Amino acid sequence: MNSTGDALGCVCDLRSDTMTRPDDAMRAAISTANVGDDVYGEDPSVTALEARMAQMLDKEAAVFFPTGTQSNLAAVMAHCGRGDEVIIGDSYHIYCDEAAGASVLAGVSMNAIAADLDGALSPALVADNIKDDDPHYARSRLLCLENTVGGQVISLTKMQAAAQVAWNSGLAVHLDGARFFNAITVLGCRATDLAKCADTVSVCLSKGLGAPAGSVLLGPQAVMSQARRNRKILGGAMRQAGVLAAAGLYALDNNIPDLAQDHARAARMGDALRKLNVGEVKQGSNMLFFTPAPEHHQPLGIHMANAGVRIGGQSPAIRMVLHRDVTDEGLDTAIAAFRSYYS
Ligand SMILES: Cc1ncc(COP(=O)(O)O)c(C=O)c1O
Repeated sequence: MNSTGDALGCVCDLRSDTMTRPDDAMRAAISTANVGDDVYGEDPSVTALEARMAQMLDKEAAVFFPTGTQSNLAAVMAHCGRGDEVIIGDSYHIYCDEAAGASVLAGVSMNAIAADLDGALSPALVADNIKDDDPHYARSRLLCLENTVGGQVISLTKMQAAAQVAWNSGLAVHLDGARFFNAITVLGCRATDLAKCADTVSVCLSKGLGAPAGSVLLGPQAVMSQARRNRKILGGAMRQAGVLAAAGLYALDNNIPDLAQDHARAARMGDALRKLNVGEVKQGSNMLFFTPAPEHHQPLGIHMANAGVRIGGQSPAIRMVLHRDVTDEGLDTAIAAFRSYYS
């Protein structure tokens, strides 16, 4: 490793947008942050971040969490009791990638329904899966939406339509907006437009926005009070968390416009890959998936690593994610390495 933490020779890390490291200006914001004990409600930077996000998304209240996983889980716990059921897309992070925490820790049953190819949930399928009030059944309590889904951006119309079906039957709606700002950048809408498609929204600061940690959960005051209690139960109430909140505030002030550049670079990478024989290429917002023939997986990964480019090791589709630590030069290196492999 060198001093910035790069594996030796790594010029372009495309495994995830969580690879971003705070730049000098963000580190300066961290080092000068006003802090206090946030468990006592006395950290001014955390309080400022929560107020700022609540205002941006037009939600009554907000709670700062160390991670998106915990923020999502605290939200599910705030909406649901043991034995309640969440309806969720079968490719969504809460269902696939959060170690079934909602079931393990909250006693919530997850009813995973097939997401459409674009990641959206069909309103008719949501309606079909809302259970009657019958003692044989789990109580349908919450619909979990996600946007972006694997980089794909779901339209406001589709988000609203799925949410409305849930609301009509008395369910609450939670949005896992880990990449909320990527979504609104592509949609060209206001933060409030997407936020109003759900009662509660979880937004990550630690992905494309470049903060080292932190997510914010937003929603009605009563639900956020319960979520704050849940955060304590889950061990996520932090003390001088203002050092992290300051990074989040810096990211909100400075880094949102740069997401469009990540999307443009992902599109450029997609165009370059389509000209090579790499198999199917899918690109949305800052993510790309391509499906090389199985025999290429390992040698391609090694070839790319030798050129200083790290790509995902998933199979059959390999994921690549553009983010603020990938420069045009890094992207050029990655494209050149793909070309030399496939030449
Ligand atoms: C869509 C989505 N939701 C939630 C999370 C969880 O965030 P964290 O890694 O901060 O727990 C991730 C993380 O990659 C994600 O991609």
